[in-house]
Amino acid sequence: MKRIVILISGRGSNMQALLEAKLPCEIAAVISNRADAQGLATASAHGIATAVVSHKDYADRASFDAALAKIIDGYAADIVVLAGFMRILTDGFVERYAGRLINIHPSLLPAYPGIDTHERALQDGVKIHGCTVHFVTPTLDHGPIIIQAAVPVLRDDTPQSLSARVLCEEHRIYPQALRWLCLNQVWLDEHGRVASDRLEQPGAPLLSPGLE
Ligand code: GAR
Repeated sequence: MKRIVILISGRGSNMQALLEAKLPCEIAAVISNRADAQGLATASAHGIATAVVSHKDYADRASFDAALAKIIDGYAADIVVLAGFMRILTDGFVERYAGRLINIHPSLLPAYPGIDTHERALQDGVKIHGCTVHFVTPTLDHGPIIIQAAVPVLRDDTPQSLSARVLCEEHRIYPQALRWLCLNQVWLDEHGRVASDRLEQPGAPLLSPGLE
């Protein structure tokens, strides 16, 4: 069974969805860069080991990432899962875990990398928004895509209501993506593309607004 380490910075609802999904893996630890991350208590309540590596204790990104990698490797992690981990990682860190470092992002990448994704989607008037699970590469929020979920943007949406609709889908696609990785059904191939031996077909198209 693969060993998983989950990195968080805050609430940890995606982490919780992963812990509760009964995945075919061992969640070895949850690590936060913030001691006050709500998700740490949730992880402990699930009997998962937790650790804090505060970025404030390190002079630069490289030394923080080195300390983080040391702890991750101490748990012999096969896969490292970013679940609301709000630190930009150095190329060295990303390359160390190439092909086994994944992230969830609250937009349909490559649209809206970075922060404030829901606000920006509303400002642009897009009618479909969503979330993406992808392999992490040195270019921020641009790695090869494993799975995406799309949701309609509704007329009266606020960033909060849109974010809540997207988050429901995050909690569905992240466990699915990690399950595929744990079962070796999805992987990053030698060309840096997502490969899969699954035969699943896409679901129904999403039209937004719907047709009359
Ligand atoms: C989630 O919406 C996740 O997609 C986003 O932060 C939130 C964390 O919530 N991640 C990013 O924006 C990373 N660029 P959670 O702590 O409840 O899982």
